[in-house]
Amino acid sequence: MSFIQLENITKAFTGSGRPAVDKLSLKIKEGEIISLLGPSGCGKTTTLRMIAGFENPSSGSIHIDGATIVNESRILPPEKRGIGMVFQDYALFPHMTIQKNVMFGLNKWKTREKKARVKEVLELVGLEEYGDRYPTQLSGGQQQRVALARALAPKPHVVLMDEPFSNLDAGLREKMRFDVTNILRRANTTAIIVTHDQKDAFAVSDRVVVMNEGVIQQIAAPKEMYRCPKNCFVAQFVGKTNILTGKMDNDLRNIHTHIGKVMLPEESKERLESVTLSIRPEGCMLSEKGAFCGVVDRVTYGGEYQELHVRLHNEPGLSKAPMMIYAPVEQDVEIGSIVSFDIKPELVALVE
Ligand SMILES: Nc1ncnc2c1ncn2[C@@H]1O[C@H](COP(=O)(O)OP(=O)(O)OP(=O)(O)O)[C@@H](O)[C@H]1O
Ligand SMILES: [Mg+2]
Repeated sequence: MSFIQLENITKAFTGSGRPAVDKLSLKIKEGEIISLLGPSGCGKTTTLRMIAGFENPSSGSIHIDGATIVNESRILPPEKRGIGMVFQDYALFPHMTIQKNVMFGLNKWKTREKKARVKEVLELVGLEEYGDRYPTQLSGGQQQRVALARALAPKPHVVLMDEPFSNLDAGLREKMRFDVTNILRRANTTAIIVTHDQKDAFAVSDRVVVMNEGVIQQIAAPKEMYRCPKNCFVAQFVGKTNILTGKMDNDLRNIHTHIGKVMLPEESKERLESVTLSIRPEGCMLSEKGAFCGVVDRVTYGGEYQELHVRLHNEPGLSKAPMMIYAPVEQDVEIGSIVSFDIKPELVALVE
């Protein structure tokens, strides 16, 4: 039985063309951490706001823990939904101490229980020493943990976080991904995190939901999403990739493309005539006697790897995009040099 269920929710804002969210259905288990991942304007925040109750769906229904919180005939107000929200800018009250900020959602609690709960959640987020400070006296990462503590204090069914890492610099961002997941796991909370950053989504979630133009493209665990993207959009949105077309061999395993024969990780379940492939650049390994060979067109130094653009010799004309492949940083590769490489089948996927 799913803990949160979104059934066919659609949001069409008046005056705009296509719906911001279009017949979105999603089931989430208790304690699961889910990310909504997609480009700007794809409907992530709108989905979150409909769950929170700040926006009402044009159609469809939402259920949490067996109760209908919104459908065609019923709209439960936000404060009755048992949802904790962490906003992108944290929205802490600047004139209140950290303790008072965290206490904010506990109006109906008895004073003694309130104090105990504030102490408990501040310990959970590792800020028990900071209760008497004001938000401006904290770092960005600390403020974010206060916002999370405030959302968790009333023991919500679910925590919603909109772009929780976007205000943080790269180093802190990595630490906070780890801290936030840890805190959510220890609180045993179900959470939905919105992000447009694939690294955030992969690092924090059990399952990732990729959206585009209001429509879910794929729902999968991070590793599966990366290795078996369902379509070209997902393949290109979660990391870099080469998209090629080809014809399937009778063995259902080899694909004849303009660069040569590329092998799938396993036999295709169905016989398809024309197919599209996604080949990850790190699946192309430089090798002296590799099956594929071409001229290096571009070298971009990426720190942990070098990105090469290679024009294949057997390519008819120069109309096709060059292959993008990653080479180890210690290898000297010159523009104009000839390289050969093999393709690891594990990083090849059939896509729609
Ligand atoms: N109140 C509104 N009235 C009209 N259109 C809106 C409203 N809110 C959002 N939209 C539109 O709905 C679409 C989805 O917006 P939404 O804020 O959900 O995107 P998002 O995925 O969160 O994007 P971002 O990553 O930029 O935050 C956009 O085209 C946006 O312009
Ligand atoms: Mg948004």
